[in-house]
Amino acid sequence: MKLDVVLGLQWGDEGKGKIVDVLAGNYPVVARFQGGPNAGHSLHFDGKSFVLRSVPSGIFRDDAMNIVGNGVVLDPITFKGECENIAEKTGIPVTKRIVIAKKAHLILPTHRLLDAANEAAMGKGKIGSTLKGIGPTYTDKISRHGLRVGDILAADFADRYARLQNRHITLLNQMGFECDPHAEDEAFMEAVNYLKQFELVDCEYYVNETLKTKGMLAEGAQGSMLDIDYGSYPFVTSSTTSCSGACVGLGVSPQKIGHVYGIFKAYCTRVGSGPFPTELFDETGEELRRIGHEFGAVTGRPRRCGWLDLVALKYAVMISGVTDLIMMKSDCLDTFADIQPVYTEFKGWKSDLTHCRTEEELPQEFRDYIAFMENFLEVPIKIISVGPDREATIMR
Ligand code: IMO
Ligand code: MG
Repeated sequence: MKLDVVLGLQWGDEGKGKIVDVLAGNYPVVARFQGGPNAGHSLHFDGKSFVLRSVPSGIFRDDAMNIVGNGVVLDPITFKGECENIAEKTGIPVTKRIVIAKKAHLILPTHRLLDAANEAAMGKGKIGSTLKGIGPTYTDKISRHGLRVGDILAADFADRYARLQNRHITLLNQMGFECDPHAEDEAFMEAVNYLKQFELVDCEYYVNETLKTKGMLAEGAQGSMLDIDYGSYPFVTSSTTSCSGACVGLGVSPQKIGHVYGIFKAYCTRVGSGPFPTELFDETGEELRRIGHEFGAVTGRPRRCGWLDLVALKYAVMISGVTDLIMMKSDCLDTFADIQPVYTEFKGWKSDLTHCRTEEELPQEFRDYIAFMENFLEVPIKIISVGPDREATIMR
């Protein structure tokens, strides 16, 4: 069977959580393959809302297994809090529904402090990081100093932790960053013990064995324009957010990839710094933010808003070999009179999309807009979302 991949094609926050939740019903296994708690995947169903950070979005499906893959950076403290919250609110036996890759790297509390120190040192040139320790943890991974999930089983784990922490303390001192590097030592060790309740796996074997009999969905975090190689460097995150990240992050061959679902919003948003060609600085931008509730799920920061950038989208489609497009938040443009994605002006549809459940119910102006995009991108838009709920989804 194939590994299907779902990816954000913009700067993150495209609505990956909702779509993975909608698609997860078709897959017995859902895996995260990169990123960490910088992600905030929002899910709404049965009148309940959850924001997932490191837990794959298959967690709410009774029959799905979930994998935290090799390419992920895992913060034991946030992960424990997230899992306990889900278990408490839903009764889902999370420790039985998630397996964790032994080779996934651990985010230490001092990685988070380093993230803050780096950002403080950059002043105006800062990335606008979520300060979850993502950059420093991947830095340690690449420079071969990192600690991995499998290391927590070693008898001398406490010593290894102290050694890496000491490296970080030296760096923090050099940067003159005032903090208490030991403040979370106890919470960290407690959370590490909590991790031992999960099955820790060789992700590459687990995934390839599973694919012999079952289909699997890989859930991307962040978006293509935040990719470490192909995004708007240096204003990017520190992982491979494009499709090939799923191969590296889970240990599967590119030949195993099936559908590549690319998710985009009907407009664009960006949190943090960096270029954003179609950004709106006027009242229209304000209105998009208000209607789309564009505030960060992780940091609460107001998101920068602008029109859809089809040139950037086409680039992302190319990098990841997207086979199916999914358009989110179509309903957020219901009230706009004119829509101007870069150069082309479109007639607004001025009617409410949220009640539409079939293609035929969609207004003509909206269908014209879709046809233009499909023509430009040369990939079909297979799913259109017209509201946050599972039900508000049109399959074409
Ligand atoms: P989801 O999965 C939107 C942005 C940050 C910052 C840059 C680097 O919810 O779409 P980092 O903490 O990774 O070092 O920050 O990337 N960023 C995101 N923006 N959604 C996300 O995740 C993001 N994860 C990181 O705002 O500009
Ligand atoms: Mg987010």
